[in-house]
Amino acid sequence: MTQTNQDGDVSEAQIASHWREEERIHPGAAFISQANMADPSVFERFTEDRFPEYYREYADLLTWDKYWHTTLDTSEPPFWKWFVGGKLNASYNCVDRHLDEHRNKAAFIWVSELEDEEDRVITYQELYVRVNEFAALLRDFAGLKAGDRVTLHMPMMPELPVAMLACARLGVIHSQVFGGFSGAACGDRIVDSGSNTLITMDGYHRSGGMLDHKVKADEAVAHAEANGAKVDKVLVWRRYKGQYQSESPMVEGRDYFVDDLLEEYTGRRVEPVSMPAEAPLFLMYTSGTTAKPKGAQHSTGGYLSYVAGTSKYYQDIHPGDVYWCMADIGWITGHSYIVYGPLSVAATSVMYEGVPNYPDAGRAWRIAERLDVNIFHTAPTTIRMLRKAGPDEPAKYDYHFKHMTTVGEPIEPEVWRWYYEEVGKKEAVVVDTYWQTETGGFLGATLPALQAMKPGSCGPGALGIFPVIYDEDSNEIDPGSGKAGNICVTRPWPGMMQTVWGDPDRFVETYFRKFNKDPDSKSWRDWPYFTGDGATQSEDGYYRIVGRVDDVINVAGHRLGTKELESAALTVQAVSEAAAVPAIDELRGRVPEMYVSLKPGYEAGPEIVAEVKGAISTIIGPIARPAHVWVSADLPKTRSGKIMRRVTAAISNFVDVGDTTTLANPEVVEEIRQAVQSAKVAAGQVPKDIPQAMIDEIRRFGEDA
Ligand code: WT7
Repeated sequence: MTQTNQDGDVSEAQIASHWREEERIHPGAAFISQANMADPSVFERFTEDRFPEYYREYADLLTWDKYWHTTLDTSEPPFWKWFVGGKLNASYNCVDRHLDEHRNKAAFIWVSELEDEEDRVITYQELYVRVNEFAALLRDFAGLKAGDRVTLHMPMMPELPVAMLACARLGVIHSQVFGGFSGAACGDRIVDSGSNTLITMDGYHRSGGMLDHKVKADEAVAHAEANGAKVDKVLVWRRYKGQYQSESPMVEGRDYFVDDLLEEYTGRRVEPVSMPAEAPLFLMYTSGTTAKPKGAQHSTGGYLSYVAGTSKYYQDIHPGDVYWCMADIGWITGHSYIVYGPLSVAATSVMYEGVPNYPDAGRAWRIAERLDVNIFHTAPTTIRMLRKAGPDEPAKYDYHFKHMTTVGEPIEPEVWRWYYEEVGKKEAVVVDTYWQTETGGFLGATLPALQAMKPGSCGPGALGIFPVIYDEDSNEIDPGSGKAGNICVTRPWPGMMQTVWGDPDRFVETYFRKFNKDPDSKSWRDWPYFTGDGATQSEDGYYRIVGRVDDVINVAGHRLGTKELESAALTVQAVSEAAAVPAIDELRGRVPEMYVSLKPGYEAGPEIVAEVKGAISTIIGPIARPAHVWVSADLPKTRSGKIMRRVTAAISNFVDVGDTTTLANPEVVEEIRQAVQSAKVAAGQVPKDIPQAMIDEIRRFGEDA
């Protein structure tokens, strides 16, 4: 079923989303009887009239050096300040304070991608030792001090959380760049954050091979230097102590092996630096509507409180659980729900180096069985992939989950059901957590012992989060109307980013301008936070996220800005114009496709396609590699010269392109449609059922980009 956009001007409020209401599923008695939060009186504590004091409950989970005097300071909208006057150290809260009771318990169990390599079990005591020694090295060798920024470009190795916690111990702001990102992407983030130290690793196992990672550090440093930033020191951990895995030469006076340097720091201890609650803990870069990624700045006290509270209540982590989140620490999910949240509640957290289906579709379940994992956390894209590769695999292994999370993108109800029935064996609750890099922790989710699951819906707002859905004119859309709109959050919460690093105007512009009622207002009530997502709310109050309303493509749960993709394509000499659009993909949700036109004198051909794909992989990373690059003489444009991404997106997805008569060049539409669709038909790439949400997404896509 396809619906056309007849006038090209459909507002959010007019987009009706058609899906059936799913059945609600209740948690089992076994889960409820052990849950951290099974007492419904919690809802009486988190009522609107108790704002903002209700978040004391989360902050009180931490150990404060100095208790705060003001729970929330809203005097400078929208730059909210939480737990003002309070002081604490994040590394102390994640490590030191657990030593008395949990010294010999595993903080991390790290699993190699190679199945015959031994696990590395890091107890809280061992973590304490390593964090201290590395913190001493950062302070005394690299000269880092509180407030400095340091860029990490690390794979999924235990040295990554060690490095993060060592920074936190000193009050140094870490900025971890996803290991799969290119050297150039890392270099951009070095420049933006003003780091002069880069922490990296020589190599790591990925899909069965040893990947050379240090070579990216050379590119990153060169790229940063070309953009005016000097990196003094590159600290290189080795995947295997003493055995260098990279082809890239070590640069004298710049590159140092961490394992060599650490010998000088054996036994060293570093007093945790007591930081103001409002001191930034880390930056996490994310894509938006412009080409330049923005550094989401997260605080120490507010952020840590929020991830501790949600880890306890929503992830239901007890010190005795074995918790495995399959995300990469290079994304916010890993920061909040592999490192800071779980460690602040003394969890045992499993870390896995490689891809979930290496060497086969049973790998994840073998790890779960062997380590007796009972809390499992992953993304719809991985669930789809594991389901496709081995729908019957989970039943072959004797593991038992009590709790499973899905995060990162909307999950189709049928995929949800496989997760619940086959992976969870109907024993585990499923918590669909909706949130963002910017929000630090969950915005929408069910409290697992108290609120029923509903396939495809994240649930109501999390404790203390009061979302609202606005149409384009800031009118509230009623629950149960079936209409989608812009989901916003009406009140500040402690996990919320503080600002965009170095660009407060962009922070205001991106997240607040659209629904701000009065730019001079000093009341938080006038400053709803705009997520950039479309959503509907059903009668029972549950939200269903339908996708981004801005020019962001969510690929396998990771955000790519169309502008970023387009500017990478434009670095190819021959390319004159470029438009990135999302195409539906069975496993990854969405994949980017590029439409490009060429400068005069250039001919379309396979080289150009390869060049554009190559440029995007090199500049952003393989994750952004477009599924197709379509070269045409011209791209569909409005009379004012804007590229109509909505039209190319419709073509890529075999959706009706709607009315194109108002275009400056309507004749190109049919030409492009025939070329693209006949190529896709020939390759057997015609999407089967386009869900309504995708049709809505296309109709909204990129018109004013
Ligand atoms: C975007 C944020 C949150 C950590 C991982 C991604 C989408 C996220 C869900 C969910 C539907 C979801 C939204 C959001 N999203 N979780 N449970 N259901 N959509 O972080 O890279 O900042 O992306 O991911 O569109 O805005 P991110």
